[in-house]
Amino acid sequence: MSHILVNVAWPYANGPRHVGHVAGFGVPSDVYARFERMKGNDVLMVSGTDEHGTPILVEAEKEGVGAQELANRYNRVIAKDLCDLGLSYDLFTRTTTVNHEHVVQEMFRQCLANGYIYKGKQKVAISPSTGRTLPDRYIEGTCPICGFDGARGDQCDNCGNELDPDELINPVSKINGETPRFEETEHFFLDLPALADANLAWLHTREGWRTNVINFSLGLFKEVKPRAITRDIDWGIPVPVDGWIDNPNKRLYVWFDAVIGYLSASIEWARRSGDPEAWRAWWNDPETPAYYFMGKDNITFHSQIWPSELLAYDGQGSKGGEPGAFGTLNLPEQVVASEFMTMEGKKFSSSRGIVIYVKDLLARYPVDAVRYYISVAGPESSDSDFTWSEFVRHNNEELAASWGNLVNRVANLINRDFGVIPELDEDSMTSEDRALLEESADAFDVIGGLLERHHQKNALAEAMRIVGAINKYISAEEPWKIKGDDRRLGTVLHVAAQAVSDANHLLAPFLPHSAQKVWEALGGSGVFSPLPHIEEVEDLDKPGFHYPIITGVYKLGETVHPWVSEPLVAGTPVPKPSPIFQKIPVEAVDEELARFDAMLSERTHAEQERLAEAQRRTRAATHSAIAGSASEPASGADSQQ
Ligand code: MF3
Ligand code: ZN
Repeated sequence: MSHILVNVAWPYANGPRHVGHVAGFGVPSDVYARFERMKGNDVLMVSGTDEHGTPILVEAEKEGVGAQELANRYNRVIAKDLCDLGLSYDLFTRTTTVNHEHVVQEMFRQCLANGYIYKGKQKVAISPSTGRTLPDRYIEGTCPICGFDGARGDQCDNCGNELDPDELINPVSKINGETPRFEETEHFFLDLPALADANLAWLHTREGWRTNVINFSLGLFKEVKPRAITRDIDWGIPVPVDGWIDNPNKRLYVWFDAVIGYLSASIEWARRSGDPEAWRAWWNDPETPAYYFMGKDNITFHSQIWPSELLAYDGQGSKGGEPGAFGTLNLPEQVVASEFMTMEGKKFSSSRGIVIYVKDLLARYPVDAVRYYISVAGPESSDSDFTWSEFVRHNNEELAASWGNLVNRVANLINRDFGVIPELDEDSMTSEDRALLEESADAFDVIGGLLERHHQKNALAEAMRIVGAINKYISAEEPWKIKGDDRRLGTVLHVAAQAVSDANHLLAPFLPHSAQKVWEALGGSGVFSPLPHIEEVEDLDKPGFHYPIITGVYKLGETVHPWVSEPLVAGTPVPKPSPIFQKIPVEAVDEELARFDAMLSERTHAEQERLAEAQRRTRAATHSAIAGSASEPASGADSQQ
């Protein structure tokens, strides 16, 4: 048994998640974690909401609430959505806990002590009319690398590259559209050049990464510059340095702290488990692999920024050094990044209404239909498109017709003819019986191998191939026509039920909710496939600060069944089944498309109004600047109103 760390990207707490998000980081990480637990490995799966920086500030301003209030709201919404999807986190927490702040500050201090963080000057964007600084998401412009129009002050979402604010072509303020001026302010920098050799050497030892991911990652090292890891804003983790820690207008950059969440969440999990040192088995033991799941826009931060932070902490860059109190921390085994998902041929965009939120999908459709579609049609290693017609087709033809009907038919015949799992009569077994049992038992190795290498689409296709083979077997044997030979009938139904049980094990990582029902349909009792739950907890270090976490009990032998063919026991009562999968009426496709169109035009209208309002404000701001009456303080202190 080995330890395996499953680190899942932290969604920003600035709005509800759409299906594109959970197709990238959510379902794939859960499929993998569930599979490894069935294999008997000790999985720790952590994540939480990402709650600092300008992603939160910009939305808080738009909604007219404070940053913490906004984060509290969406932390709750997101935790519920991810839990409802059945994502089996050991801990899903958040970045505004005191534990996270302490862990981040310890990382910062040790990187500073080792010489990989230093103080310098950075050109930052400032609003001429208000004097306010405009970091990261407060400015947009054209990407100097790929020419994309909506690049932000820190990163281009189109090409995935990190940027400095003064590199943007035609930068404009997102607040009022004006052109910022640039001024130098003091910041701390992560000395990426001093870490590049070690970072790259680690990348060169990686095996089995998706081609796009490794190529993009290697490309990051063509030109390596130090990066500012502090910002002139008042929302974020205080910089743990004398003269800075009490400065309300200097905070750590959100990405510096967010990636440390993997470590801090592991520590929080250990503290909550009653063994505060338990996290070390997943971080200090070089034999323990860590898999990181995310969409491709996050690769930079997991192939370069996070490994460089870890190398800096461990003292393994060109300046040497030594690890701090956390000991030598492991680098990622693999950055398992997926590509992008589009929606009916268009790029997902919350602001333009090209979106389908997880909670809306789950309100209208069964959760495993959603998980199935994401698994079968998701953007695993190339971009993919969410279409309503394909969603309905996959559900109806594959889940409901192939798999659901099979389970129902077999359970129904057994219930009607025997009431219990019938005996397997070795003497009446045919070569067809043996071939099917062999095929479904052998599938564990085949599919397991694919899941280990993160080829989930192929793994699912193989599992569905087994379902097809069982259907063929039933059609060929026609058990409903076997009259007066109970031994043969019992054997056929036993073989079919055993193969269905095997297929159910193989599908369980993908379809945990229905796997439980299939298990029960074959007379199984107890938990077959555990689900996560939400628990209300109090911050470990700040009494009175309450928040929801996702957690659960996922123990092999207790709530998790093993990744092998488990023999059915003759004599186990089999109840009369009720259908486990439902067909979705095909009219749903037209309804959803109409809804999608309505949302699109509504948002286009709203966007035009926002644009007009921004232009009015720019004119007003320019007027008052000319009149010399613009004298708001040069700080981000007003950014939370
Ligand atoms: N919040 C980021 C996003 O939604 C992802 C952060 S992942 C982590 O793109 F590295 F910070 F954990
Ligand atoms: Zn770009």
